Amino acid sequence: MTRTFSTFLRHGALWLLLGAVPAHAADPSNGGALYQRLCAQCHGARGVPVLPVSPDFSLPTALLKPDLALLSVIRDGRGAMPAYQGQLKDREMLDLVAHLRTLKARR
Ligand code: HEC
Repeated sequence: MTRTFSTFLRHGALWLLLGAVPAHAADPSNGGALYQRLCAQCHGARGVPVLPVSPDFSLPTALLKPDLALLSVIRDGRGAMPAYQGQLKDREMLDLVAHLRTLKARR
């Protein structure tokens, strides 16, 4: 193996590792726009539910679950909550979760 080739391999592995880290940091403002369009009719513009059976996102006890648990509810739906798989990308769902986490602070 030539020196250049092994250097290439080492750097290649580094790039692969970097590629494994999500390039996208969740964007709560994109999440906010999606939320107003898709979610506010049940969850309320500020997280105080319109549909009584939906959780109150403005309470301090709301959303204590990890992002991925919330993502899976958005993706697969639960009870009266519709599934958004196919309609939204995972990235958009994570933007939504980032927005949900801002609703509590606003009260
Ligand atoms: C048709 C009404 C409706 C719409 C639209 C809706 N939801 Fe829900 N959502 C609910 C209900 C009802 C629940 C409670 C489900 C259950 O536990 O039975 C819920 C639960 C959730 C939960 C779980 C909260 C927790 O603490 O476990 C999340 C997260 C959530 N919704 C996010 C969203 C997002 C984001 C959108 C928009 C993309 C959305 N919802 C649209 C009705 C709705």
